[in-house]
Amino acid sequence: MKVLVVGTGARENAICEALKDDCELYSYMSNKNPGIAKITSFKQGNEGEIEKVADYAVEKGIDIAVIGPEAPLGKGIVDELEKNGIKCVGPNIEAAKIETDKSFMRNLFEKYEIPGSLIYKVFDNYADIEAFLDDFDRDSVIKPVGLTGGKGVKIVGEHLKDNQEAKEYAKKVMDTKMGGFPQVIIEERLIGEEFTIQAFSDGEHLAPMPAAQDHPYAFEGGIGPITGGMGSYSDKNGLLPFLSEENYQKAVKIMEETISAIAKEAKPYKGILYGQFMLTSDGPRLIEYNARFGDPEAMNVLPLMKTPMIEVCQSIVDGTLDSVEFEPKASVCKYIVPDGYPETKYANEPIDVDEEKINSIGAKVFYAAVNQKEDGKIYTSSSRALGIVGIGDSIKESESIAEEACKYVNGNLYHRRDIGTDELIQKRIEHMKEING
Ligand code: GLY
Repeated sequence: MKVLVVGTGARENAICEALKDDCELYSYMSNKNPGIAKITSFKQGNEGEIEKVADYAVEKGIDIAVIGPEAPLGKGIVDELEKNGIKCVGPNIEAAKIETDKSFMRNLFEKYEIPGSLIYKVFDNYADIEAFLDDFDRDSVIKPVGLTGGKGVKIVGEHLKDNQEAKEYAKKVMDTKMGGFPQVIIEERLIGEEFTIQAFSDGEHLAPMPAAQDHPYAFEGGIGPITGGMGSYSDKNGLLPFLSEENYQKAVKIMEETISAIAKEAKPYKGILYGQFMLTSDGPRLIEYNARFGDPEAMNVLPLMKTPMIEVCQSIVDGTLDSVEFEPKASVCKYIVPDGYPETKYANEPIDVDEEKINSIGAKVFYAAVNQKEDGKIYTSSSRALGIVGIGDSIKESESIAEEACKYVNGNLYHRRDIGTDELIQKRIEHMKEING
């Protein structure tokens, strides 16, 4: 079987690793990711040029395409590939609106009475924003309606001082059409602990994966700007130290109801659904969905799959998805980024990765936004460089494997040493205790 993976990052590197032993593997990526290049036949090109990706897939006789990032999904890459007879793991343009159009997502919750939503409103004029915020007696979150790579979100009390700053920022989002829409969403700010559940879906059935917790803030201690994610962990029982089985199941139920609502409202959703939840004192509430694996969270779950990824992909396209098994192991992923990221001055610099040493201590490397040039060296960009993953019988053991492995990556680089440490996990547990009174 011939499988094409579309995308360039660590998430796609992890997808390729999960598939490489069971198929003839191809990739389409915008720069030469050394981890993907090593294990696939590849073509370099812009993944957003969906007709060119489809031409490549047809030329190579691809049976199944797995779409990594959200941007091509938002442009209709699945519709384009399917038009050319290629089956896809990834939603078509209509179903992908669950990520690409946040007002579609919130309306779905309202119309189908899906539990776990929050107070929100979509605005297209300043007078309404002002009136709403003047009356709103709690902190809010300002979000663009479309895609901004997670970087357009600002929270009152963190990035914005007060409602005056919230009004100004909301106006900017709307006026500049941030994310592609002349609109802005204002939501209530939820208090609790965030967690991620990723699930496979064949349009009707859902097969959830172990929960994970990402760390979006750039610096240790959870401060600084919001990034694409600085690292994540998962636990061997599939839950998290602050997340009970009951609350995990409630979140999965929300995702199941969403899949069934998308099928009624748009088209059946085939691919990976990523639910970002806040665990509050009222249980899990949905912050947002992504129409793809999480990055870094893909690196926590894909290496633990017991059911072969190729079988899961086949069952998604056939509509016969059943449960998917994972190794009962914990994992910790630490993203290594150029110093100063997300405002780095160290882009386009060579870095040194001693993969042999990293593998010898039991850790894994997944390359992200780096480029291997003709001199064979690996160069950074202004985005995240590589994920290092430790897997063990506990979060603690996984963390120490990952941290030790980070020593073998050198350059003007930074990573959050606190991710997965006992101290940070304990803070999460205490925080939830405090919230639950
Ligand atoms: N971990 C955040 C994301 O994948 O969007």
